[in-house]
Amino acid sequence: MENEPKKRNSFTGSIGFVLAAAGSAVGLGNIWRFPYLAARDGGGMFLLIYLVLALTFGFTILITEVAIGRKTKQSPLTAYGELSKKWKPLGIIACIIPMMIMPYYCVIGGWVVKYFLAFLTGSGAETARDGYFGAFITDTSSPIGMTIVFLFLTVIVVLGGVDKGIEKFSKIVMPALVILIVVIAIFAMNQSHEDAGGVTRTGMEGLKILFIPDISELTVRSFFTTLMDAMGQLFYSLSVAMGIMIAYGSYMKDDTNLSRAIGEIEVFDTAIAVLAGIMIIPTVYVFMGKEGMQAGPGLMFVALPKVFVQMGRIGGLIGCLFFAMVLFAATTSAVSILEAVVSSFMDQFHVSRKTATMGEGVIALILGIIVCLGYNKLFFKITLPNGAEAQILDVMDYVSNNLLMPVVAIGTCILIGWVMKPKTIIDEVTKNGEKFGRKFLYVGMIKFIAPVLLLVLLLEALGVI
Ligand code: PHE
Repeated sequence: MENEPKKRNSFTGSIGFVLAAAGSAVGLGNIWRFPYLAARDGGGMFLLIYLVLALTFGFTILITEVAIGRKTKQSPLTAYGELSKKWKPLGIIACIIPMMIMPYYCVIGGWVVKYFLAFLTGSGAETARDGYFGAFITDTSSPIGMTIVFLFLTVIVVLGGVDKGIEKFSKIVMPALVILIVVIAIFAMNQSHEDAGGVTRTGMEGLKILFIPDISELTVRSFFTTLMDAMGQLFYSLSVAMGIMIAYGSYMKDDTNLSRAIGEIEVFDTAIAVLAGIMIIPTVYVFMGKEGMQAGPGLMFVALPKVFVQMGRIGGLIGCLFFAMVLFAATTSAVSILEAVVSSFMDQFHVSRKTATMGEGVIALILGIIVCLGYNKLFFKITLPNGAEAQILDVMDYVSNNLLMPVVAIGTCILIGWVMKPKTIIDEVTKNGEKFGRKFLYVGMIKFIAPVLLLVLLLEALGVI
């Protein structure tokens, strides 16, 4: 094999792999995007659809990618070509996606650093001022500085390699993240607050919104929207279709029980998303009522700081813990995005880890600065095919997440389902005599259901349906 590097790093064992992959999966998507989608899309209904999709669709794509990685021992850029020469271009797209995501993920990571530092230094109250967030991101220097801090952190971890960098980091940060989120969620459920109009709302009432399906306004159209939102969210949340899980799979030891590891990642990712819902929905509901939850994307940086301030003295501490946790979640995800690119450069160009990391670090830095300037010097506003208004960050997000990722996932389904046949993956998963529990489901999913669902998702993103 011409692409085989001399010594390939690997995770030390199953736990290392699961924590690193869960670290990738658990990110801003779980903490910020999942709760607001759940609140908007009828709470319990969204949750139910999400869980069903996670166990079927999510499982299929995730196990496929990890198995491709472990089978080929190659990075995303080279793995597809290794499976079938003609499919190399799919690897190229799978490598371009993380290169597109890395810069803007670091910019958002930089925003988190800024808020964390504000709460840490006791000036959290300032972040709750009207217009604070807007003023910060349109500033010409501060967001760039914060992006650099975040990028630097990520680069250091990846430079350490798979076992001594990524695995070690995940083993410290992920348990800390779990503890923080559980503590804040317990606190959130037990809150109550009386607003100016004398109405008292409790955390438990807020929880009902998250868990009890609201079918009073259910229509075929709203069901379809919820289904598509849940699928898009799942896709993003599992970090699939952008080479990450192939890269991590390629570092997995051959004797690790692959299907059990996949199950653990799914449980981890879903549990954290639900816990984030338990933490955020009651909190926002108690202080801002149902309208507060319409805050959507601005929820984390605009609505939550206001909530922390209203909590009084303890709010400063909770805010600090909250943004520390978000920072943990975001760094482990950014590390995985960087690693997908670094492993690709290493396998394709036979360069050292240091050269590959520094190279991609510089690319991310330059593009990251451009993203920051998109809110001031390079400001423009365009409307995307799906109707959303966009700046540079949103355009990069749209092209990578909404267009290229479904393309890679559909390509993967066709390659595995029809060209290579599902047996390729099943054999890899069961090669040490393990059981493949959802085998029939897997075959039906990868050949028929997943590609169709993905195509619908792509058409929706294109504004066709
Ligand atoms: N899966 C991460 C989340 O839920 C986001 C992510 C997307 C991470 C793409 C890496 C790559 O936030």
